[in-house]
Amino acid sequence: MGKRFQAPKGTRDLLPPEAAVWARVEEIARRVFALYGYREIRTPIFEDTELFARGVGESTDIVGKEMYTFTDRGGRSLTLRPESTAPVCRAYVEHGMQTLPQPVRLFYIGPQFRYERPQKGRFRQFHQIGAELLGGKGAESDAEVLQMLFRFLRELGFTDLKVYLNSVGDRASRAAYGAALRQYLLPLKERLSEDSRRRLDSNPLRILDTKSVEEQELVRRDAAPKLEDFISPPAAAHFRRVLTFLESSGIPYEKDDRLVRGLDYYTNTVFEIVSEGLGAQNAICGGGAYEGLVEELGGPPTYGVGFAIGEDRLLEVLPADSPARRTAAGPVLVSIVGKAFSEGGAGADVVGLLEELREAGIACQEAAGRGSRLFELAESLGSPAIVFLGEDELAAGTLSIRTLATREQKTLPRSETIERLAALFRT
Ligand code: HAM
Repeated sequence: MGKRFQAPKGTRDLLPPEAAVWARVEEIARRVFALYGYREIRTPIFEDTELFARGVGESTDIVGKEMYTFTDRGGRSLTLRPESTAPVCRAYVEHGMQTLPQPVRLFYIGPQFRYERPQKGRFRQFHQIGAELLGGKGAESDAEVLQMLFRFLRELGFTDLKVYLNSVGDRASRAAYGAALRQYLLPLKERLSEDSRRRLDSNPLRILDTKSVEEQELVRRDAAPKLEDFISPPAAAHFRRVLTFLESSGIPYEKDDRLVRGLDYYTNTVFEIVSEGLGAQNAICGGGAYEGLVEELGGPPTYGVGFAIGEDRLLEVLPADSPARRTAAGPVLVSIVGKAFSEGGAGADVVGLLEELREAGIACQEAAGRGSRLFELAESLGSPAIVFLGEDELAAGTLSIRTLATREQKTLPRSETIERLAALFRT
């Protein structure tokens, strides 16, 4: 017996009928994003390793310990993309998109790869639906992507989500706050975890979103420096404008002054959407603005803002009545009855009938089963009807059609049956 294989740890197969729901979610994303003028971009699955080291940041968890990096046969260091903001900015610069009318609005849908410990809602190959607005003007751009995000989530049937947001200030504010936090935590170093001690030198801001209760208490004490106090006046004004936009567009939000996000490129607005239904890995979506990234990757100073939804997590909490669950009808089953097939009677005609149905836009397939097995098959495939073709039908130029929803069976002229079935596929 041959060796049996399993999908690699942290990856999975998406099977029918679940994969059809994913496709519907993506279809709705495409429709909603088009309403805002966003167009699709598809970047490579792997990139130059240095793109992420520079773009996402050397001191981040992603670059430090989660990347799938390999050397190809030509000796190049390549990395399976752990996220797509850096690749989109790389493409923007590479293709001179800064010379197009600004802003440039792009969206992407596709797999991302992070070497993390798999658990509920956390995979090594996961999928994101994301959007980036490049060359925008600031607060209005932040508001636009949040409006689009919420329209999409509402169209999917979510009613109770809110966005948690914060401002990490401009680059100077961030740096000044990082230095102050480091000064404050240095004498308390003994009480920090190993991870946080490392971050103290490389990226003190990340200590703010620590999961350790003791560390949370340390950074929340009155004596601890507050990020808010370090935000420059223009950055503070930017954030106030974003909040005003959110209020006027009815987007529920909550300020979270410890939200800093795990990627280095953010400036000003950062945000996350969480869902209680998910357990520990509860962020469905993360995003924010990034003013220095395009420049860091060799382009002109460019204001960028965007988000990425974790599609695996989104599907985990997709409402039961979501329109995305209303997937297209399965194939009509065509069953040959009695001796007709074996005697070559209907057998000769069935292939022609199947093609005739498809020509009319009716999904169909021949089904060999009988009785209850046939109905079980129809139900498992989501078939709206079963068509029976026997000698009587063949002789009379009719078809018998059994509608699954009503369990009614009728014998009708062939053309009328086809017309009725076609109507089911038009809705
Ligand atoms: P991120 O927060 O690293 O941001 O990822 C966004 C979302 O991807 C998360 O909220 C989560 O739903 C999902 N996700 C991340 N890692 C995993 C995993 N291992 N398994 C399942 N889902 C996961 C970014 O990636 C930024 N590029 C977002 C962005 C776009 N910022 C600006 N523009």
